[in-house]
Amino acid sequence: MNIVIVGAGGQLASDLVPALAGHRVVPLPHADLDVCDAPAVRARLTRERPDVVINTAAFHRVDECERSPDVPFRVNAIAARDLARVCADLDSTLVSFSTDYVFDGRQRRPYTEDDAPNPLNVYGVTKLAGETSSGRCVPNTSWCARPGCTASPGRARTAATLWRR
Ligand SMILES: NC(=O)c1ccc[n+]([C@@H]2O[C@H](COP(=O)([O-])OP(=O)(O)OC[C@H]3O[C@@H](n4cnc5c(N)ncnc54)[C@H](OP(=O)(O)O)[C@@H]3O)[C@@H](O)[C@H]2O)c1
Repeated sequence: MNIVIVGAGGQLASDLVPALAGHRVVPLPHADLDVCDAPAVRARLTRERPDVVINTAAFHRVDECERSPDVPFRVNAIAARDLARVCADLDSTLVSFSTDYVFDGRQRRPYTEDDAPNPLNVYGVTKLAGETSSGRCVPNTSWCARPGCTASPGRARTAATLWRR
């Protein structure tokens, strides 16, 4: 399978690349592709023609998100939506990752992907906006997990498990 990973300089991507051995994987770190540059994203993905795009790009420094919501909104919400549009046009499957910050933490049992979100901070709001907008773009192909804890190596295991589903 032909797989492109965007935001590929981060922790999750560094676990995913070895987990995806056997596939043709094109890891694109921030320096090679800015997900906020929508024309560049479209051009690069159109050239790569991936079967699957994995979006690991994120701005998740929670305190900075509160001080300056503009960048996290562009990365976590707008770029996620634009990426989904390109994937829909190219018929590529999009894999994206959300966060437990979309929940308010008041529930007394573990959260599942189907629980109602209620983010309490800017980071959570931007990630929820990314989930919602990208899901609307490609309702049949976009797929989203909300990892509660993504510490390595469990992160890779979770991703690999979800990948097989
Ligand atoms: N880390 C966690 O504890 C955690 C928990 C739950 C969910 N998640 C989710 O899991 C996913 C992966 O997170 P991670 O832990 O791997 O985070 P990470 O290590 O911070 O990686 C995120 C990557 O995104 C890149 N990035 C930021 N802005 C970008 C842009 N405009 N264009 C392209 N790349 C950009 C960053 O590059 P630069 O640093 O060079 O900007 C960084 O390499 C994210 O969706 C995150 O929300 C993470």
